[in-house]
Amino acid sequence: MAIKTVGVLGCGLMGAGIAQVSAGAGFKTIVLEVNQDVLKKGLGRIDKFLTGGIEKGKVTAEQKATTLGNLTGTTNYADLKDCDLVIEAIIENVAIKKQAYAQVEAVVGPNSLIASNTSSLCITELAAGTRRPDKVGGLHFFNPVPLMKLVEVIRALTTSQDTYDALFAFAKAIGKEPITAPDRGGFIVNRLLVPYLLDAIRCLEDGLGSVEDIDNGMKLGCGYPMGPFTLLDFVGLDTTYYIANIMFEEFRETRFAPPPLLKRMVIAGHLGKKSGKGFYDHSPK
Ligand code: CAA
Repeated sequence: MAIKTVGVLGCGLMGAGIAQVSAGAGFKTIVLEVNQDVLKKGLGRIDKFLTGGIEKGKVTAEQKATTLGNLTGTTNYADLKDCDLVIEAIIENVAIKKQAYAQVEAVVGPNSLIASNTSSLCITELAAGTRRPDKVGGLHFFNPVPLMKLVEVIRALTTSQDTYDALFAFAKAIGKEPITAPDRGGFIVNRLLVPYLLDAIRCLEDGLGSVEDIDNGMKLGCGYPMGPFTLLDFVGLDTTYYIANIMFEEFRETRFAPPPLLKRMVIAGHLGKKSGKGFYDHSPK
């Protein structure tokens, strides 16, 4: 299963990062969005990251040109017809993902693979909604995709060994460190990370310390690159809330239950960096 052409569904934070690393590694990459405005914004995000990389001396002008040269944006599923692998990074909604897969299957060849970047949904359920359950698996990337080395490669109950091997090899080919993760809510990383983040909120609710002190405690005391509240604002409180609920549904364990403060912050629209306010103030100065 030689992967040469890659489709990416969604050019949001994750989709843009995935499209960037795929194109940067030499794969012809076609990224699809729902309309031209969102597509333009997503492609602009990639351009900005690469330009930032040049300013930091981490990316050469040639690398930027190669990445952008391998990358095309589209709003038309028909343009994905030659894709050997389509990576889906759209809204975390099973019904919408299944609809998207049906549109992919209508245009790609019978051997093309589909991988979801879902952070917590059941890959077996997504695979079962297609006509190729043996050719569907999970490729879970981490934010910011171009900087985070890890990819979790997830095998659904139906994923064939060939598909799994091809997804694992693809993750390596784009310069990532793949690990094998089971098709269980949260896979490996979120299974550990989400209860930690929720616990930090519970600590805050219990008056254990301030946001800053808890963050500094974990950052300076444990060497974490970001404290839990900085990370929560970075990941998005709505995203964390959503994942926690899915994991709670899956395991029915209280450690996955979103604390009341998280729920209320999400309802209030305090979503973190993306909304300008979360545990910290991110409004433009
Ligand atoms: N292009 C290329 N390289 C760049 C770059 C760019 N545009 N911007 C930054 N870099 C490089 C920097 O030069 C630096 O390289 P060195 O380490 O070699 O010096 C490195 O990337 C780190 O960048 P910065 O020094 O600017 O920033 P930082 O040290 O504060 O690190 C971070 C930023 C990598 C995001 C770090 O804070 C971090 O690792 N945070 C944790 C992120 C995390 O946990 N992500 C996972 C979230 S969970 C998830 O995604 C899954 C889910 O399902 C919810």
